[in-house]
Parts: sequence; structure tokens; C-alpha cells
Amino acid sequence: MVKFDHLLYGGDYNPEQWLEYPEILEQDLEYMRRAHINTVSVGIFSWAVLEPEEGVFCFGWLEEIVEKLYQNGISVILATPSGARPKWLSDAYPEVLRVDASGHRNFFGGRHNHCYTSPVYREKIKIINQELVRRLGSHPAVKLWHISNEYGGACYCPLCQQEFRRFLKEKYGTIEELNRRWCTTFWSHRYSSFEQIEAPSPRGENELHALKLDWKRFVTERTTDFMRHEIACLREAGSDKPVTTNMMYNFEGLNYPEMAPYVDIISWDSYPVWHKEPETVTASDCGMQHDIMRSLKKQPFLLMESCPSSTNWQKVSKLKKPGMLQAASLQAIAHGSDSVLYFQFRQSRGASEKFHGAVMDHYGGDTRVFREVTCTGASLQSLQELCGTEVRSLAAVLYDWDNRWAMEDAQGPRNKNLFYKETMEKSYRALRKLGLNVDVIDMSKTLEDYRLVAVPMMYLFKEGFAGKLRDFTEQGGTVLMTYWSGIVDETDRCFLGGTPHGLEDVFGLRSTEIDGLYDWESNAAVPVEGQEILRHTYTCRNLCELVEVNGAKSAVALGDALWGSREDVCRTESESDASCCCGAECSVNLLGGRERFGAQVLAVYGSDFYAGTPALTRNAYGKGYAYYICADFEQAFYDELYASAVKEAGVATPPLSEIPLGLEVTQRESETAAYLILQNFGDQDVAIQVTDGSYRMIYGGNAANLKKYETIVLKRDKI
Ligand code: GLA
Ligand code: ZN
Repeated sequence: MVKFDHLLYGGDYNPEQWLEYPEILEQDLEYMRRAHINTVSVGIFSWAVLEPEEGVFCFGWLEEIVEKLYQNGISVILATPSGARPKWLSDAYPEVLRVDASGHRNFFGGRHNHCYTSPVYREKIKIINQELVRRLGSHPAVKLWHISNEYGGACYCPLCQQEFRRFLKEKYGTIEELNRRWCTTFWSHRYSSFEQIEAPSPRGENELHALKLDWKRFVTERTTDFMRHEIACLREAGSDKPVTTNMMYNFEGLNYPEMAPYVDIISWDSYPVWHKEPETVTASDCGMQHDIMRSLKKQPFLLMESCPSSTNWQKVSKLKKPGMLQAASLQAIAHGSDSVLYFQFRQSRGASEKFHGAVMDHYGGDTRVFREVTCTGASLQSLQELCGTEVRSLAAVLYDWDNRWAMEDAQGPRNKNLFYKETMEKSYRALRKLGLNVDVIDMSKTLEDYRLVAVPMMYLFKEGFAGKLRDFTEQGGTVLMTYWSGIVDETDRCFLGGTPHGLEDVFGLRSTEIDGLYDWESNAAVPVEGQEILRHTYTCRNLCELVEVNGAKSAVALGDALWGSREDVCRTESESDASCCCGAECSVNLLGGRERFGAQVLAVYGSDFYAGTPALTRNAYGKGYAYYICADFEQAFYDELYASAVKEAGVATPPLSEIPLGLEVTQRESETAAYLILQNFGDQDVAIQVTDGSYRMIYGGNAANLKKYETIVLKRDKI
């Protein structure tokens, strides 16, 4: 785990844009000192200045600046410059430029416009990265490598297509297996060799779901491979300093959990659109992204970029109101960040980000924004002891990239507005409203640390996932799963037999149909008498699943459909038979077993032809409980349900007499101390009563009157 001895404060610094203004560079240091800045990221887009011509290096300016920063007590996060390449490079080697999905090679321009496979690009980045190590890698100012910048996008050039085929061959072994897993017999799309396969394209194959899913996986593999190449270059040249790469908000293009193991610390760039929706909504969304990032490694992370003022790429460039910057910055710290870093220190003079907010604007002096930055810097100074402390969660919400890719492409119950993110947010918010820390994890993570997990819309089950949920429940965990779960396997092939696949007995039900509602339609969950989980009637929209309790287990029991296993074969051969042809080890032996199940119905639908059928169920399984939420319910439904389920699961909530609307409650802890961080994102001042007297205030004002945007931090010694 990467440990810093203080919270990092500062951000992107691009002095190469100011080399002809030495007085400005001098002034920068003075203003950094005033604002309590202790860290800057340099070199992110400096390639053209560092290597103005092929093989001609010009590092003097950077060495001088890094040394000066060091003399002034400022640490450096040193970037590799692969995010944007010099013109000479793409002129001399056009193959480094990206090819789009229609097969056209891009011109020079923009950034992220390069092929991740190109041997030339890899070689050129190796040269410049290793030069960076030689010149600056062991400088004491340099604390961390910033690998490239916001990796993203894909290349469809012949080299990448070839790599795609290699990737598929490694995965499937034979073309027959690929055909089987991809269901290519549909529309006569069978392949007879790997050489025939092309990436999905709007001009070609665009409806073979498994192809598209594997292509997205491949893009992550390619990008990760390129990132690993960059890191390997640094290591080869002798640097053992930690590495990070800056990730993005809700970015669907890359499966971040797959990249996470290769960096030493997670970092990400946060640009929430404040003051558009109620602040509480934006705060929750932003907090959730912090939690997604923290959960990638379950360790402190870095807020690598944020905006001191307004961005210039959103529809409207809204200023942050006084106090907002500090609240948003401390929110990152609350959720487990060990830094607050900005894009950027000094506003560019020209080009596409000249109006993007910065610590220093074109005026170049003391401004309202600069004062807010200074004030936030001072706050971090007094919260140094939070650095390196953990955020521990007993509750987790699952959110998975493969699942998202597959489900959104599936041509299923609603082709527009499936609301995956919104649905998982409802579980997340309900848990956060109870003041709980929440991890947001993908299907690959272990569930061992949790007492309660929410599994919203987990359409795709990876191998072993059903078993993991089963064990979790059996051992006493509470799981809350929603409709449209356990429908397909890893290659988007529908499971045969009942759904949620492999878990019908755990949930005590079988899903039979799913109704897509028109936008103007709604239904309701009406609580069943005699239960204490849900007391009110709630509205649902968009999707209503019809489930059967008191049914029998799968008509066709395939177990966890195993990769390349013989189960399908067995099923085919024994379909009409109660016993399986293949002997004892085959799960098809269950066929005809017809184990009975039956969940408790907690609420029923209020209308339509399925009125009176289950809308919410609970099944006791092993030592735990498995809840099934059948439809897309309003937030209040989730709030009540989770309040009951958390209580039932015996998960302790924070020591507060109540949690007023808009109050964000987050806890960080170390071996010796627990910290309770309370932030008011609501419109009203709130009064907070801490019920555990062993907490004392270490930051902020008056708990009895916490104003909008205010933060207080309380501490309890553990020993
Ligand atoms: C991204 C990039 C930065 C800058 C900012 C502007 O996060 O990494 O280089 O363009 O956006 O908001
Ligand atoms: Zn390519």
C-alpha cells in the first residue's frame, strides 16, 4: 500500500506553457506556498517540449523546475507523456495514429489518438519514459509516477484486429468453441477460422452481442497491456517509485477493476456538475464515485484532478458557490482520498482549456477562487492525521462493467432507459442515508468482509458468482437482489432452466417473465399484512418482473454453466430423461429432482394482470436472508426496505440520534482512532447530536448548527 506522510494538495502544473515568462514561474512558487500547495503533477502533455525532434531531448527546463519545486518543499507527481504525441511522430510513423470503427485512420490532432498496439508507438514511449527515469526518476521531489492521462478509446487498425484474434484464440482455443459460445449459428454468422473475425463496426457486424462484449473486454486488455508496457519501461530503467493512472467518472470504456492490480494506488478525476440538481443528489453521486474508486483496491486513493472553479466542457460552465470547493474537497477526503488535486494550477493562455477554471486565472493574483483554494489548503493542514486511514464498510453494492456492457447491448425488456446506474444508486443511497460506509464492488471481489450486499440488475453472472452469493447468504449474510439478474453467462448466452440462475433455492423463487413498462405506466408494491419489513405502498416503473414462489427448481438444471464443460452436451443428450447419461459428477443429475422452494411474499403488485403476485420477497437461507426486489421502485421503497434489512442484519449505524436530510456521514479509521466526518449538503442548517460521548471534535464548528457546505470531524481514540 502506498503511504504518504501528509495529504497531498495541489494539482496539474504545466510550466512548459510559460517558459517564456520566468517571472510568472517565480510567482507560481509564491502562490503555491500561500495556498498550502505541497504537490504538483508535471509533464502530462510535455512530449513535444521534451523531445522537439526525434531523438533530440530537451529536459533542462523540467529539471530546473523540479529542483525549484523541491527547494520550495513541493513534491512532484511525474507523468509519462503518452496521452498526446508530437507532430513529428505521427508524420514519420503514421501507423501510430488511431483507426476508427469504420476503418479510417485519423489525422494528427487531439489527444488519446494513438494505437495501443503499434510497436513504433511502444518503442517511442519507451525511449521518452526511460529518458524521464534517467533525468528525474531518482530526484527526491518525485514521489509517484502518473502513467499517461485518462486512458480511453479504441483503435481498429489491422494490428489491433490481429491482436483481437489472438485474444479470442487464447480465450476459446478453437473456432468451434467460439461459435458455440457466441451463438453464431443465429443469422448464419458462423466463422470457420479466427482469421475471419473482425472487430464490431457500424459498417459490419454490430449485433452479435458476444462479439461486442469480447471486443470491449479486449479494449481493456489492450489498454492495460499498453499501460503495463509503460510501467515496465520505468522499472527496466531502474525506477521503483509507485505508479498510478488517473481514471474517470462512470467511465464505461474500460473495466477499471481489471486495470487496478497493475497500479500501486488508484487515482481519479472528479468533475461533478454542482448547483444543477439539489446538492444532496450531486453529493451522493460524487460520493459514490469516490467509493467506486476506493473499492478498487480497498485502500486510500487520490483525487488526482478536480476543478477549483468551473470547467469549460460541460454544457454550462457554472461557478462553484462560496464554500462548495471546500465541501467537495473534504468529501473526497471523507470517502478515503489522501489528496485534493486540481486541474490545473495556472489557467492556460490559449487553446481549448483557456477558460477552464484554475487555481490562478488570467488575472494572475489573489482572487475569490484563490482564497477558497487557500482556505481548503488550510483545512487539509489541520486534517493531516486522516492521511492513510481506512474506510471500512460492512455493506457493499455490486456494480459490474461486464454486466453493464452486456445488459445495455442486449436488446431486452427496454432498449432505452434500463437505468442500471440509477437502480444501483437507489441501493447505495438508501444505505448511505443510514450513515453507513458503502463499498461499490464488481463481481470479482470477495464478499467476506460484508454483512449485507446489494445486487442490483446483475443480468450477467460470471462463473462462480452464484456460488459466492449462495455461500455468503448461507453463512449469515443478507443479500438484496433485484429483477433482471442471473439471466446470461459470461458470453451473454441465456441460461437454460430457471432464473436467477443457480439461485432459485436461495431466493425461494423463480422469475418467469419481465414486463417493460411504457414511460407513462406505473404499478405499485402493496405490503402484505403480518410482516414488519415494509409498511407503505410504493410506486414502480420501467420494469416489473413476474416471479413464482411455491414453485419447483429449474426444469433444466445446469448448475453454474462451466466454461467449456460438458454440461450442455449432457443436457442435450438427456433432455427428455430424468437421469443423466454422463454419470454422477454431472449437475444434470438434478433434472427431474424438482426440489421445492418458497419465499415469503412481503409485498404484491397493485395492478395489471399480475396484481396480487409477488413484488418483494424474502427467503431465509442458511443463516442469512435473501431478498428479491421484483421491480424498479422509487427511492422511498429502498429507504424503508434497507432500514429494515440493516436492522435485521444487526449492522451498527453511526452514533447519531438522527441523520437529517442532506447530511453525509462517513467514517475513516486507523488502528488507534475512529473518525466521524459529517458534511451538510442540504439546503437547511442542521442540528446533530452525537450519542457516543467518547467522540471529540477535531475540525469544524458547531454540531448543533451545521450550516450548508460545512464539515465537522470528530475523533474517538480506540486505545
Ligand atoms: C481531464 C484531463 C485534463 C483536463 C481536464 C479538464 O480530466 O485529464 O487534462 O483536460 O479534464 O477538465
Ligand atoms: Zn491499432
